[in-house]
Parts: sequence; C-alpha cells; structure tokens
Amino acid sequence: MPPSNSVKDYIRTIVDFPHEGILFRDVTTLFADPRGFRMAIDQMLHPYAGTQIDKVVGLEARGFILGGAIAHQLSKGFVPVRKKGKLPAATIAEEYQLEYGSAVVEIHDDALSAGEKVLIVDDLLATGGTAEAGIKLCERLGAQVIGCVFVVDLPDLGGRRRLEAMGIEVHALCE
Ligand code: PRP
Ligand code: ADE
Repeated sequence: MPPSNSVKDYIRTIVDFPHEGILFRDVTTLFADPRGFRMAIDQMLHPYAGTQIDKVVGLEARGFILGGAIAHQLSKGFVPVRKKGKLPAATIAEEYQLEYGSAVVEIHDDALSAGEKVLIVDDLLATGGTAEAGIKLCERLGAQVIGCVFVVDLPDLGGRRRLEAMGIEVHALCE
C-alpha cells in the first residue's frame, strides 16, 4: 500500500467475520505499518496535550497494543481490563453486551487509586458496551475517567451517545 496520511487507509475490512453480516474493521494492518501505527498513537494523544493523565487503561485485546504504546509515550503506567478469568490477583467485574454476544470484564481491585485520572483506550467503539463496562470498573475503584479514545467509531451502533450520556468525553480517529 502506498504511504497515506489517513489512518483509515491502513484499516482493512473483513466481510462476515466473526459472523455473517458483520463487517469486521481489522486494525492489525494499521498496527503492522510503522507509519500508520505512529500516526494512530500520535493522533489518539493529540486531544489530551496538556491534560493530566495518571494511568492508561487498555481494553482487551487491541486496547492493550494501543494503550501500551500510549502509556509509554506519556511515561505513565498501563492497566489492563481483561476478559473474565485472566487476571491473577483479586478483581472486580462488570458484565456487558457485545454487538454479538455477552461477556464479563475484570480489573485488579488495586490497579487504580481514588482520584487518579485515567484515559481508556481501545481500537473500536461499536455499541459502547465494552467501554461502558471499563468506565464502570475504573469509577468503582474511585478513579476519574477523563476520556475514552478509539481508532474507529461505528456511529450507527450508538456507542458514542451512550458514553457521552455517562458524561464521558469520546474521541475517535475515524468512522
Ligand atoms: C471488539 C473491540 C472492542 C469491542 C467494541 O472487541 O475491540 O473492544 O469489540 O464493541 P462494543 O462497543 O459493542 O462493546 P471484541 O469484543 O471483539 O474482543 P477482542 O478484542 O478480545 O477480540
Ligand atoms: N467489535 C464490534 N464490532 C466490530 C466490528 N464491526 N469490527 C471490529 N471489531 C468490532
């Protein structure tokens, strides 16, 4: 692919994955391209220039890749929100509905301190169920979610409205 200044150009669409009728927006092609990956990380951080962020929280699984790079760029710590049963120490949990199916996510109960300002990171916002669960976990630990940032927003699925209705600032690089 020729070099592009648009993150969207690095994302590929897989038809009927993981189920018939789903257009899966595959960001592995963005991650694999050094120019695309750096552009994505830089653009995701852009709205937060000058904003205090104490921890970066990444949502499994692609939020780990993006969130790890963002935390490194900020020289801040990274905290994973994982699917049920993966974290080894004491956790708190939230159940949520996906675009397809339902799931439970967890966070270590000592991963965030009261009053810490956190940025939540994931690759894609669809219904907002995953991000809402992540926000609730952070807030239950007393942290303040200063925003959620995604590479892709699928606006027809209403995730942005759902998170904004919770009072959360939402940023996405493309729709
Ligand atoms: C995808 C995506 C988000 C979530 C968005 O993850 O990476 O985390 O769906 O959907 P929502 O806004 O409707 O909640 P997926 O559940 O496929 O899990 P994975 O990253 O572990 O593959
Ligand atoms: N998660 C939920 N819906 C998705 C989609 N259409 N593409 C990629 N990840 C998703």
